[in-house]
Amino acid sequence: MIRSRTAALVLAAAVAACGDSAETEPLAAVGGGGAYAGPPIPWAYEPFPASLEPADNPSTPEKIELGNLLFYDPVLSRDDATACATCHSEIWGMSDGLPVSVGVDGEGPTGPGRDGPNKTTRNAQTLWNVPFRTELFLDGRSPSLEHQALEPLLAERELALAPDAAAAKLATFPAYVSLFQQAFPGEAQPVTADNLARALSAFQRTLVSDRAPYDQYVAGDEGAMRPDWVEGMFLFAEGGCAGCHVPPLFEANRYVSRIGGADPGRAAVTNAPADQGAFRVPTLRNARDTEPYFHDGSVISLEEAVQVEAEISAARGEGRTLAAEEVALVAKFINKGLTDRTRDPRRPKEVPSGLQVPVDGFRIPR
Ligand code: HEC
Ligand code: HEC
Repeated sequence: MIRSRTAALVLAAAVAACGDSAETEPLAAVGGGGAYAGPPIPWAYEPFPASLEPADNPSTPEKIELGNLLFYDPVLSRDDATACATCHSEIWGMSDGLPVSVGVDGEGPTGPGRDGPNKTTRNAQTLWNVPFRTELFLDGRSPSLEHQALEPLLAERELALAPDAAAAKLATFPAYVSLFQQAFPGEAQPVTADNLARALSAFQRTLVSDRAPYDQYVAGDEGAMRPDWVEGMFLFAEGGCAGCHVPPLFEANRYVSRIGGADPGRAAVTNAPADQGAFRVPTLRNARDTEPYFHDGSVISLEEAVQVEAEISAARGEGRTLAAEEVALVAKFINKGLTDRTRDPRRPKEVPSGLQVPVDGFRIPR
């Protein structure tokens, strides 16, 4: 803790550029913005952003409930066995524990061991805090949840069921017709592909992770983060990590090549050679649960991913070089300080299609 406070004072001195001494600058002011009065943090405090709910798709409990059922219902797949939750499971931080995902015709529960002929080319992204994203997918090719929602159905390696066919299929279940009527009152034919996208989006807007120990700490509960996590947070800033993984979401609409590889990444969207291998800066919230890491899932553990990133950052002069024990503290900050399982979505036991909700693998909690 002493080390962190020293770092805070150094930063306070830097912030108070014109003459104010670090001693007269109250520690709390390190948070910046005047309003912040919590314990020291190494960056200017920013409150959580507002959810990006479009005017034509306001969330209602009925829509969220319908979206929740659809998200876990394999009825949206060609093989009647694959759902959004197959690749975005709350057990795996809204991802799936695999290097790349396995879509329709796959075998085995979500998690290591699942295999099949239809594999995605990229690691499944976490959906935590997706309500705040304006550039979706690892290459940023989609601007909104509503725009994105039907893409997995169209993808041959994911759900492989055309959205209109999916809507027609849903309309054969009286339970779904009634749920769509409640979610979209006053519409003569509410079971449409567009409303399917709206319901899935409303459900995904509930995937907010804002109650991690870090959030409790900045809200004034200094004891919410252990001293070594706080130290890791300051090292996270000193290592240059916060410049890209920007608090409070610990992500950014920036595209950077980190580990390289054959995937063109952002270049496929912009056609700019400079974007070759560049991916959107992913969130580190709930990263504890989203192993393996990077766009190709090539790194298994969070500790190793942090080590890889620390080496890249040091080599590029983005921050100072971190010693091995400092890297371990940064990993601890992410692992403990940024984990929040209080808002896990409800996994329905039964879905209106009567099909089996995809099974998730057994996971030993850490
Ligand atoms: C077979 C596995 C698979 C299935 C099934 C699947 N996804 Fe995904 N999802 C992925 C992968 C892989 C990515 C990253 C793709 C990329 O960046 O090109 C992704 C990305 C996303 C994103 C972008 C997140 C972000 O932060 O940018 C959203 C949103 C999403 N999926 C929602 C859904 C929904 C809703 C469904 C069901 C209709 C679904 N997914 C079904 C594998 C899957
Ligand atoms: C210049 C921007 C930038 C900086 C600085 C940076 N990162 Fe990253 N980070 C990224 C991008 C982009 C990715 C995704 C790269 C990919 O998948 O190919 C990433 C991926 C990660 C991942 C894997 C996340 C996942 O879900 O796959 C971790 C962990 C991580 N960074 C931690 C750190 C740490 C710790 C630091 C500081 C030592 C750091 N990063 C500095 C841009 C940055």
